[in-house]
Amino acid sequence: MLQLPKVVGHRGAMAYAPENTLDSFREAHRRGATWVEIDVKLTKDGVPIVMHDSSLKRTTGVDRLASEMTAAELPPSVPTFAQAIACFGELGLGCNVEIKPCEGREAETARVTVATLRDLWPAKLPAPLLSSFKDASLAAARDAAPEFARALLIDEVKDDWRARAEAVSADGINTNGKRLTAVRAVEIRKAGYLLSVYTINDGDVARALVGMGVQCVISDAPDVILAALR
Ligand code: G3P
Ligand code: MG
Repeated sequence: MLQLPKVVGHRGAMAYAPENTLDSFREAHRRGATWVEIDVKLTKDGVPIVMHDSSLKRTTGVDRLASEMTAAELPPSVPTFAQAIACFGELGLGCNVEIKPCEGREAETARVTVATLRDLWPAKLPAPLLSSFKDASLAAARDAAPEFARALLIDEVKDDWRARAEAVSADGINTNGKRLTAVRAVEIRKAGYLLSVYTINDGDVARALVGMGVQCVISDAPDVILAALR
């Protein structure tokens, strides 16, 4: 079973540097994170890139959809997934790769993501964790590359969580830490699933969640959470 770190830097260390950029990954590393979380989607020409929103407007000022741009048209601050992986190799960072497909490209994005990992993921790094809010992406990732651990992202864990997790053969649940109840945390851990929470930036909240059985805290400020859990 995959060994999760206690803390993962969200989109790098987005409290301190522009999210999902190489600078953000370096900042997370400087602040003690051993893993980061990133969001991967495809450009028009099928290149996997690291970008959270459908549009580039909020993070780069460019008012265009990622799905309508070629990789060659991207602003330099937006890394390709390949560039991000090379950066992780330099820094020795593990990664929670969130598959964040544009509408209608759920399976394709997963297939390209795992093919890229198979080609480029450095053997010296810990194995990555895939995650997605899209069940179809996780199912496609499992079918194409079952060797990569998968976590189902769920904003609020409801009664159907286990059926959904089983349907995609998930290894873990990554959920909104502000909505997770102690009862659900125990249920998930007792069922043998890994349990991670996002996005927790308060040390006391992180400690309480770990006390409930949470194994991994995804945070914009990984240094704050590392200090709180020490
Ligand atoms: O993977 C954890 C977290 O990143 C999920 O939500 O919207 O920040 O990608 P979001
Ligand atoms: Mg994410």
